[in-house]
Amino acid sequence: MVRDEMKVGVAGCLGYTGFELVKLLDKHPNITLEVLTARTPNTVSADPRFSLQLKQGYNPTISTLEDADFSTCELVFFATPHGVCMEHAKKLLNEGITVIDLSADFRLGDPKLFETWYGMKHSAPELLDEAVYGLPELNRECLAGTKLIAMPGCYPTSVILGVLPLIETKCLINTLIADCKSGVSGAGRSATSSTIYGEVAENFKAYAVHGHRHLPEIKQEIIGIVNKSKKQVDSDNFDIQFTPHLLPMFRGLYSSIYIELIEDIKQDALTELYKARYASEPFVKILPKGVLPETRFVRESNEVHLYVNKFEKSSYLNILVAEDNLIKGAAGQAVQVMNLVFGFAETIGLK
Ligand SMILES: NC(=O)c1ccc[n+]([C@@H]2O[C@H](COP(=O)([O-])OP(=O)(O)OC[C@H]3O[C@@H](n4cnc5c(N)ncnc54)[C@H](OP(=O)(O)O)[C@@H]3O)[C@@H](O)[C@H]2O)c1
Repeated sequence: MVRDEMKVGVAGCLGYTGFELVKLLDKHPNITLEVLTARTPNTVSADPRFSLQLKQGYNPTISTLEDADFSTCELVFFATPHGVCMEHAKKLLNEGITVIDLSADFRLGDPKLFETWYGMKHSAPELLDEAVYGLPELNRECLAGTKLIAMPGCYPTSVILGVLPLIETKCLINTLIADCKSGVSGAGRSATSSTIYGEVAENFKAYAVHGHRHLPEIKQEIIGIVNKSKKQVDSDNFDIQFTPHLLPMFRGLYSSIYIELIEDIKQDALTELYKARYASEPFVKILPKGVLPETRFVRESNEVHLYVNKFEKSSYLNILVAEDNLIKGAAGQAVQVMNLVFGFAETIGLK
């Protein structure tokens, strides 16, 4: 039964994605923000974002995660670094509370792969099988009533949405190269020397070229989709490369994806394939010929803008994707998933 009002908690409310979540949930007509956590709770009332950007009369309980009492909540979002949600998820699930985790704790199905890429042992590997990967355009039908949701990373969201129509049909693919760029908010609010203004402004560079943590996630999901699609692509020989870059701006993510096709596809057929696949998706827009995605047009929006381009006299095609890493790449998508899990209209609080 869909309820009129639902109480939720947000762990990590002062972080970049955590505060975006708080802002979206604050405007959501069915949600009451019940419990927020921060490592130093008294910093929340002093934070101008709370007094200036939220409705007045707003009065949630604010505590540390360790002291938080989520018993009146139906749902808790974790907008915390990896390694945090896995320590709390089991207790909350046992109490019947749904968990939506924006971190990587439950994204990779194989705990050894998690250990390799995140440098820590998984403390709740028994929960990995029940976690649903929260990409609505891929897993919408599994989301209703799900108790544990692993939200996709910001880069994987753009890459998977960029290639989904191709890889789930009979198009044969050899190589996928994802050349991706993100604003500095992708690295979170705790400044490191590489993300402070002086290091980022008027500069552009690649990073993690020998392996970024989102690569195994992209591979896992893409190979999974390919395997479900009647095995028309040889997943063992399917080559996926990913290079992230740091943009000298705060928010926004742009992916240029290059795909080598084994068999030719004409531009018109390609455009039709994408339009048909995403026709009923409220947040994926296929841009018309000549109109290219730009990060400013998806800023603070849950929309993804996509453009597909077949290079002439080449076996390669190019897919351009723009998203807001903090919204469709994180908080907005988490609210979209919450709506689907709890039976609210998918776009409530997001349009
Ligand atoms: N930024 C993005 O574009 C993006 C996109 C998709 C997913 N994500 C994922 O979302 C999560 C949050 O990212 P973010 O960018 O919002 O990070 P962030 O700005 O660094 O915020 C992290 C938040 O977690 C809290 N925190 C840190 N360590 C903690 C601990 N040990 N126990 C409890 N709370 C702790 C911090 O609390 P205090 O503020 O009180 O110190 C802060 O509020 C990460 O797992 C990230 O990978 C981020």
